[in-house]
Amino acid sequence: MDVTTIPVPLGPRSYEVCIAPAGAADMAQKIAAALGKSTGVAVLVDSRLHQLSPRAQPLVEALAERLPRVRRLDLPVGESCKTLAAIESTCDWLAENGYDRGAALVGIGGGATSDHVGFAAAIYLRGIAYATCPTTLLAMVDASVGGKTGVDIAAGKNLVGAFHQPRAVMADPAFLDSLPPREFAAGMAEVVKAGLISDASLLDTLEAQAGAAMPAAVLARVIEAAVRVKVDVVVADERESGRRAVLNFGHTVGHAIEAASGFQLLHGEAVSLGMIAALALGTARGVTEPGLLARMTALLARLGLPVDLKDRLVADVLDRMEVDKKRVSDAVRFVLVPRPGQAIIEGIALDELKRQLLAASFNLPSRI
Ligand SMILES: NC(=O)c1ccc[n+]([C@@H]2O[C@H](COP(=O)([O-])OP(=O)(O)OC[C@H]3O[C@@H](n4cnc5c(N)ncnc54)[C@H](O)[C@@H]3O)[C@@H](O)[C@H]2O)c1
Repeated sequence: MDVTTIPVPLGPRSYEVCIAPAGAADMAQKIAAALGKSTGVAVLVDSRLHQLSPRAQPLVEALAERLPRVRRLDLPVGESCKTLAAIESTCDWLAENGYDRGAALVGIGGGATSDHVGFAAAIYLRGIAYATCPTTLLAMVDASVGGKTGVDIAAGKNLVGAFHQPRAVMADPAFLDSLPPREFAAGMAEVVKAGLISDASLLDTLEAQAGAAMPAAVLARVIEAAVRVKVDVVVADERESGRRAVLNFGHTVGHAIEAASGFQLLHGEAVSLGMIAALALGTARGVTEPGLLARMTALLARLGLPVDLKDRLVADVLDRMEVDKKRVSDAVRFVLVPRPGQAIIEGIALDELKRQLLAASFNLPSRI
């Protein structure tokens, strides 16, 4: 399989996303080159990955062969590493092990790991370098690219964080062999989002593949296309002051549904429902072209994602949108998709938004 390199041109913070590197040695070599001279490297790994993936330990060993003073720290599994306490514990461990300002971090794991590692790197000694090796589909196409890092607090998910770009992202789709189907499908929700907001041909590819096992070369191309969408948006608006908000398509309602489910739904599953809601709203407002809602409902369902909004848009969910970070005063900056590959942002008053979402969800074809 060809190695693909996608540049992320951000001036002094530029880096590359490498897709389908040729195994652990190649990944380690590329990371060593991207990090340059460092005084020591801490490799932070999702602690369950060693049991789950036979690829994790060889990667740690390959890094140890090519980078100075490598030590491994296992992080709490998945989302549980995204706490301020876990960040403090990582920073304590780094200090105890003598990592100084010339040190660097390498993260191996899903989006939770890359958020933890990126945030720890952003604040330890006021900022050190880091690289990530995303091991879930969601992390490859979304979380590891773009430099948004952060952790959860009691008031909500991702409310404490920093912008801190990595020096390199190494996405080896072979890691996905061990990913449970439900996690894989959740990552696909972000791929569909990328297609909807910016790359109509990506949707065609998914429609041609969905339901069957995706050949490795097609999967690598799908990941590449989704990463390109994210990179284009990030490069246009690194700090989310404007255009980057289109990446929130499906997320305003999705986050609310995710929180209301007590996080029983995976992020991507909630985003699937959030995209259905956004397409239904767009259709009701005359913005979204006829037929797109039904087409995407069919695609998301074939990818194994939830599409049934029935009983989801209850008052509790709609109220949760009020604490969503995308709310600016009383108008919500809501992302709508007029046609595949195009996204627009409309300011919609919160009351009007709630009313229209409810009405739109009741008018869904046979309420889906
Ligand atoms: N910073 C951003 O821009 C951004 C964007 C999107 C999502 N996120 C964050 O990403 C997180 C979700 O990421 P995620 O879905 O990758 O979740 P995750 O990191 O929690 O991983 C999900 C599960 O998969 C397991 N896992 C990881 N790699 C595996 C592999 N190769 N094989 C088998 N199991 C594996 C993990 O142990 C975990 O249990 C959320 O915290 C979300 O807020 C951040």
